[in-house]
Order: sequence, then C-alpha cells, then structure tokens
Amino acid sequence: MKITVVGAGAVGATCADNIARKELASELILLDIKEGIAEGKAQDMMQTATLLGFDTKVIGSTNDYTKTANSDVVVVTSGLPRKPGMTREELIGVNAGIVKGVCENILKYSPNAIIIIISNPMDTMTYLALTSTGLPKNRIIGMGGILDSARFKYQLSQHLGASPSDLNALVVGGHGDTTMIPLISKATWNSAPVTDFLSDEQQQQIVADTMVGGATLTKLLGTSAWYAPGAAGAALVEAIVRDEKKLFTCCVLLDGEYGQKDIALGVPVIIGKNGWEKIIDFKLNADEQAAFDKSADAVRNMNDVLKTL
Ligand code: 2OP
Repeated sequence: MKITVVGAGAVGATCADNIARKELASELILLDIKEGIAEGKAQDMMQTATLLGFDTKVIGSTNDYTKTANSDVVVVTSGLPRKPGMTREELIGVNAGIVKGVCENILKYSPNAIIIIISNPMDTMTYLALTSTGLPKNRIIGMGGILDSARFKYQLSQHLGASPSDLNALVVGGHGDTTMIPLISKATWNSAPVTDFLSDEQQQQIVADTMVGGATLTKLLGTSAWYAPGAAGAALVEAIVRDEKKLFTCCVLLDGEYGQKDIALGVPVIIGKNGWEKIIDFKLNADEQAAFDKSADAVRNMNDVLKTL
C-alpha cells in the first residue's frame, strides 16, 4: 500500500506520523511546497522507527509529485490554517487554488487514488475536489466529522466522568463553528442514552462546546489544532486501507440523501476499500433535520463563492 500526505504542516505531519506508527502503508510520501520541510520531518519520523517499532518507509519531497506516483490514498492538508478569531470559511480565497492544484498534480501520477480532503473550509474544498476532478463520488471524502465526533465524545466524557471509548456519538452537517450538528439525542454511553444522565443545560453546553472545539484550541494555540485532526485523518485512512467498513461521519457528495442534492456535507457513511461505500440514514428528528437543512444552506453559500474566485 502506498499513501501520500500533501502538506507537511502540523496537521499533515501528525497524520503522517500516525499512519507510519500504525503501518498503514509500506511507503508513505510526505510532500510540501516549502523547501526541505517535508524531507526534514520525514527523516525525523524515520528516526523514531527503531524506537517505536514500525517498518513504514517515510519519504519527504519538496513539491516533486513524481514521488507520489501510484498512491492508493492521498490526504490533502495543504493550505493555510486559521488564526485566532478567524472562521474556517475565511480561508477559501487562498486555499481553493491550492487544493485544486494539488488534486490536479496528484491525479497526474495516481489516477486511481482515493482522495481525503482536510484543508479548510473542508466542506467546500471537498465539493471543489469533486467538481474539478470529476472523480467517482465515492473516491473523494472530506474529513471533518470524524474530528468533530471525537471532540463531541471528549466533551461528553468530561461531563459524565466516562471513558471516551465508552461513548458513541456522531456530529453531522458542516465542519463549521455554526454548521455542525452534534446528535446528542442519539449519543450513547455504552448503549445507554447519554440524555438519561445529563440535564438539558449540560446537553446544551456539550453541544455548544463541541461546535467551537476547533476555535477554542485555535485561541489557545494561536493556530489550528493538529493532534486530533491528524489522528482523525489517519483513522479514515486506516478504515480504507484495512477495509474496515467503519461507520464515520464524512463529508461526501449527496444526491438526495438527507434531503440534499449537489452538495458535499457530513453524513454517516460506511468506509472501506472503495472509499465511502454507503450513506446510512440516521432518521434525524424534526429539529435535527431543520438544523441540517440550515447547515446545507450555509455550505451551499460557501460553495457559490467558488464561482467568484
Ligand atoms: C479543526 O477543526 C483543523 O478544521 C480543523 O481543528
């Protein structure tokens, strides 16, 4: 298996480090446009191999896409991260051109690759990748919901005093501070509804804190987070390369599902060797469906901005 991570910034390098440690590929290419950064981080990772016991071959490249040839999966993290006070959507002007160019370069050498989009604004970047490449829709997957769901489980675990791994909870909709929808009515603590253990106020607080989970960290760190985004990207890669049939929230092209068409948005999907393989209908209640439609409207407005670039 060969995997490429484009963008050796904090998120891309963390994603690559997780992929290497999990041995999800025999060969892992880390590519960046900035001279030397990918080679340096790749070498640094390789120097942990003997300490961490992995045999993944990590190779860095400064913008030489020939090195990425015949990649099975490509993770796109390139572009600017947000700064404190910024929304993900404000990155569209710079990141759209970067993501479009990266997809073109990748497909020149890996025409059969499954492409994972992490660059923000992720929902719109995923839609851009779909429309600009014309690839089959199952081979383009936006990663945001896996991260948001992990943050949702973290918030729940803090309030419940629970182990995060005992929680099942999904976030659907956009990967935006105001567009994501933590499905608290469906969240469980080892099969028991979490709503049995939380007051209405606690539930509202958990949902609110989840929605701004990324912005909260950006304020603390001065830039976007990277540990959880990188690990979430690697979890998606793992489900593909190991054909795990995992149920995740991923940003995929909708064609009527959840009442939406011609938009890429976070919904529950089965992930396996073919990319996203099936959309699962979670039967949203009236409030959740209304929030989903509102989220879709906001993401569609961002998608329309692409036409002006
Ligand atoms: C986040 O929410 C980078 O969008 C990513 O941290």
